[in-house]
Amino acid sequence: MKITIFGSGYVGLVTGACFAEVGNDVLCVDIDEEKIRRLQQGEIPIYEPGLEEMVIENSREGRLRFTSDIAEGVAFGLFQFIAVGTPPDEDGSADLRHVLSVAESIGRYMEDYRIVIDKSTVPVGTADLVQQKISSVLAERGMTYDFDVVSNPEFLKEGDAIGDFMKPDRIVVGVDNPRTKELLRTLYAPFNRSHDRFLAMDVRSAELTKYAANSMLATKISFMNEIANIAERVGADVEAVRQGIGSDSRIGFSFIYPGMGYGGSCFPKDVQALERTSRQFGYDARILQAVEAVNHDQKSSLVDKMKQHFNGELKGKTIAVWGLSFKPNTDDMREAPSRRLMEALWDEGASVRAYDPVAMDEARRIYGDREDFELVEHPDHALKGADALAVVTEWMVFRSPDFEMMKKELNEPVVFDGRNVYNPDMMEQLGFSYYSIGRLPRCSS
Ligand code: UDX
Repeated sequence: MKITIFGSGYVGLVTGACFAEVGNDVLCVDIDEEKIRRLQQGEIPIYEPGLEEMVIENSREGRLRFTSDIAEGVAFGLFQFIAVGTPPDEDGSADLRHVLSVAESIGRYMEDYRIVIDKSTVPVGTADLVQQKISSVLAERGMTYDFDVVSNPEFLKEGDAIGDFMKPDRIVVGVDNPRTKELLRTLYAPFNRSHDRFLAMDVRSAELTKYAANSMLATKISFMNEIANIAERVGADVEAVRQGIGSDSRIGFSFIYPGMGYGGSCFPKDVQALERTSRQFGYDARILQAVEAVNHDQKSSLVDKMKQHFNGELKGKTIAVWGLSFKPNTDDMREAPSRRLMEALWDEGASVRAYDPVAMDEARRIYGDREDFELVEHPDHALKGADALAVVTEWMVFRSPDFEMMKKELNEPVVFDGRNVYNPDMMEQLGFSYYSIGRLPRCSS
């Protein structure tokens, strides 16, 4: 089948590569000519395991092509995926400028029936706006071509996006026209194996499903962070509590790890956007507000502990930071807890010496050459002469460090573990002052 994908960012590229992988002809369109030129040469602008190989292989086979020619894109695919960015507005609502600009282009250049598919995460009601935009441009042209607008949210995890696309838990499609529904079922058939995962529903429910899924997951995390905060105060161990509640199959073990709060491109943005949508429709979404507030504070929890340890005086201290990306296996630092932590440290007059396995370029891009920020090429190099270590992202390479060496290199053996990576008893035996999230013992010296 012929597929056009507008937007060669994270979602667009993964979607395009995966559809090509199962034999479709895919044309990816992006207005960024430099990005397209690099993609044509097999250079991938993002870090995602397996994506580069998939893009190169499918490009070589001629199934995956890239262009910045929008008219060519509209002419190409029966399926026109919109996978452009929806960054948050000043007030947290999703900015639909790019989505509507693609809709306008489709209206301007279409010469035949098209199925327009919203893949970007867009607020409830966006499919209607896309429909109106295309209709109004067609009316200006004096044309009456038929088209359908479908909502097909993505549920891709960074770091495992290819796996999520190729073997999805579910394929949610919001579609009103029964004939279009069958075409989409056929399009997704290669990914819909073992049992039927194709969930067709009305357009608005599909749009809301995406926000509901991410908000539910974010709620689990904030809930658990709240329990960790309570555990610290009442002298309980959140690790025991996590196992105690996760073993109830109604609760489950996933997404109940306390930490430094959720980050990334989805959860923070989607919780906020759903909260704004609710408000626009006259409903005060109190749980969502609380989820966001808990997450906001949680990102500062390590700094609070540092202040406590250093008697409020962080000025002049050097803190080693391990991990900058918002989670392992990505270079993405959007809404990363590391950012809040480092910015708070800088505000207090402390310096940061940081290491991350893949996000160093991204950190350099964001923070440039600050005097109080140094990036080092090896985790151990961050430790020498630092006053404490903060573990911010749970990359595998941080899990089994040489603790004796760590003790020697640090000015003082103090570790602030924002991801509960190390065993508190072991850290105590090794003679560290060890702070983690909601566990016992929280500090021993
Ligand atoms: C998420 C959803 O999982 C995906 O389905 C959706 O389409 C996009 O958003 P992603 O942002 O890539 O994907 O990250 P994910 O692996 O879900 O983690 C999100 C954040 O939650 C990370 O900051 C992670 O550290 C945090 N997290 C996760 C916790 O703090 N505790 C947990 O138990 C799980």
